Amino acid sequence: MNPVELIIQKRNGKELQKEDIYYLIESYTNGSMPDYQMSAFLMASFIKGLSKDETAWLTSAMLESGKTLDLSMFPGPKIGKHSTGGIGDKTTLILTPIAMAAGIKVPQITGRGLGHTGGTLDKLDSIPGFDGRPSLEKYKKLIDYPGGFLAGQTDEVAPADRLMYSLRDVTGTVESIPLITASIMSKKIAEGTDGMVFDVKTGSGAFMKSYDDSKALAESLMYTAKAAGKKSLAMITEMSQPIGYFSGNWLEVYESILMLNGEYTEDIAEITLALAGAMLYLGGVADTVEAGYEQSMYILESGDAFDKFIEIIKVQGGDVDLIRFPEKYPVAPEIDFLYAPFDGFLKSVNGYELGMCLIDLGAGRYRKEDVIDYTAGLILTIKIGDPVKKGQKIGEVRTAKREVIDPVKKRIMQALEFSLYAQPKLKLVKEILY
Ligand code: URA
Repeated sequence: MNPVELIIQKRNGKELQKEDIYYLIESYTNGSMPDYQMSAFLMASFIKGLSKDETAWLTSAMLESGKTLDLSMFPGPKIGKHSTGGIGDKTTLILTPIAMAAGIKVPQITGRGLGHTGGTLDKLDSIPGFDGRPSLEKYKKLIDYPGGFLAGQTDEVAPADRLMYSLRDVTGTVESIPLITASIMSKKIAEGTDGMVFDVKTGSGAFMKSYDDSKALAESLMYTAKAAGKKSLAMITEMSQPIGYFSGNWLEVYESILMLNGEYTEDIAEITLALAGAMLYLGGVADTVEAGYEQSMYILESGDAFDKFIEIIKVQGGDVDLIRFPEKYPVAPEIDFLYAPFDGFLKSVNGYELGMCLIDLGAGRYRKEDVIDYTAGLILTIKIGDPVKKGQKIGEVRTAKREVIDPVKKRIMQALEFSLYAQPKLKLVKEILY
């Protein structure tokens, strides 16, 4: 077999065979196929699409490039959650300890930032000492105590996805339903859970900007989960504007700590508790998603979720003192403010642009090897529908790069559309697919 011939076949829109796809993934994972050929294959797949069969083979080839966690020795429900990617999306950091405190085992394998979106693994890496890449054996110990983990993919879990994910991030090949499905599912199946909750984002800051595409992605994920014998549920959630006020790696950990201590914005609470509620429902701990929501709220307000978060951070080597006293964390050297242009209402937000501005500020990567500035980010304290007064402070940018401040502020203001007239608030959880 020859990779070039397979790339040409895909470029010409032909359906590949199972052995072709396995060959490409094996060759890329063992290093015999270079990045430029995989990039060409990804672009051809992006443009020509992959059939349901091709997507299923790609998923299994990527899954089988590594090992799967066997959690069968652990009694009780084991449920994971995966988001298709957004801005300011810190829900995983909050719902994982909530679900664990409810008695669910949560093996949470997370990823790095991708395209204009942030990644939970980068957020975790902002916590000094935190080991976000334990071995597969260590993963199992963490399932035993404290009942789950927050970690990235090690070399052992879907290594093909880890390599392809970084490549897609920098080759414009992210927003593809089959590629996203295979990427997410190769990791989710490897977690060895009984079921999974998908948070499928929709809107200007999501990979799938239209509602129809988001729903198609949700259905593709659920179809692949079912084929692998897993229970699943998908929630389609709003991603036109950042979730909460803080976007950027440490800033999001900081806001998660606030929420775990009972201080939160409406949108973080609504989305996070709905997803946590869905995990409790799938795990059989709650009778309905709504009952799971209430139970999650109770766990949050009792302080049990914060205690669980401390346990997770501690056992994975993170600096617990900073979690208890997050104000001790270093602050970015350059801070500048954003102001409302006139009396009116926030009408719309270009979430994609905000994501790109976050990369410019230093909170994300343009190239695989770029180093993240964990203190960089954007704080935006208004939501679509909120009234504003001319000159009112609506946010701030934080960075170590003074030269990006003016152009980034200009882009952010262009990404925010204001109106003289009252605007409706957005519905955050749009649909639940069972
Ligand atoms: N999240 C993933 O894990 N993979 C994708 O391709 C997109 C979002």
